Amino acid sequence: MKKIGILTSGGDAPGMNAAIRSVVLASFFHGIKVYGILNGYEGMIEGQLIELNLSTVRNIVQRGGTMLKSSRSKRFLKKTYRQIAFNRLKENNIDGLIVLGGDGTFRGASQFSKEFDFPIIGIPCTIDNDMFGTDFCVGYDTAINTAVDAIDKIRDTAESHNRLFFVEVMGRDAGLIAMRSGIAGGAEAILIPETKMNIDELVKLLKKDQKLNLSSMIVVVAEGDEEGGAKSVSEKVKELLPDIDVRVTTLGHIQRGGKPSCMDRILATRMGLSAVENLISGQRNVMIGIINEKVKLVPFDQAVKHNKKLNPELIHLINVMVS
Ligand code: F6P
Repeated sequence: MKKIGILTSGGDAPGMNAAIRSVVLASFFHGIKVYGILNGYEGMIEGQLIELNLSTVRNIVQRGGTMLKSSRSKRFLKKTYRQIAFNRLKENNIDGLIVLGGDGTFRGASQFSKEFDFPIIGIPCTIDNDMFGTDFCVGYDTAINTAVDAIDKIRDTAESHNRLFFVEVMGRDAGLIAMRSGIAGGAEAILIPETKMNIDELVKLLKKDQKLNLSSMIVVVAEGDEEGGAKSVSEKVKELLPDIDVRVTTLGHIQRGGKPSCMDRILATRMGLSAVENLISGQRNVMIGIINEKVKLVPFDQAVKHNKKLNPELIHLINVMVS
């Protein structure tokens, strides 16, 4: 292994830059050259490669976003374009690839790795934290801290006006951001796709809180909740509780930006080193996971096939804290 490529794909996540830096430093340590592929799989198809060295990755460990830029490539879903991408890697003498992203990224990597017998290692980076096979994905810790900070601020104004706020956090298919930010923000209710709470149950809960004369109430709603996001939930609740002053805040992409937390920087740095060393030792078609503080290699097929199970202890915690 003399020359490897690295790319970031899908939604960006704070800590991606720390992982890129780690891959470059680890490769330098092991005498390997690293090329950054710009714009995810799109850049692989277009052959957009830049050489990365110790000076290009200086001063990026603390930066949000991704210096390599990202995309959700539709073309890479087609065999014709994957073939072009493979040719580009061969033209540039790339011997192996490290890909940073989530579910969609690893589906693409798995397909490509099998089709062309090409070594690829994945680093799970998604604020949703919904990859099976790792306790945490890079970006999640920063995102939940951003969400908690926003919930605290909303609480101040909610208290001043005796209002009920519905706060929507990201998580297309997973409620992990809602779960932890809701618990830490002292939410009166948390709606996530993994557990069912219908509008009647929610209203019952809010009526109970009303009786306690709470001067503010916050309901954290995961974007992917089956009741249809914060706006839709708020409208249904408003019909049943017309006397409450209701407001809605959607946190949106603010959760994807900002300086990565210390935990995300460390996680990204550990996974970056492990990705390089496993690639050197001949591993392919696997994602780096860390479970109970130990590195585990998870085949891409497993990582994308299984859903991450919510920790039952945390679900019990929600049930007790918001009842
Ligand atoms: O990266 C994950 C995520 O932030 C999801 O939580 C969200 O649903 C989606 O990406 C938004 O994607 P985009 O930035 O492409 O609109």
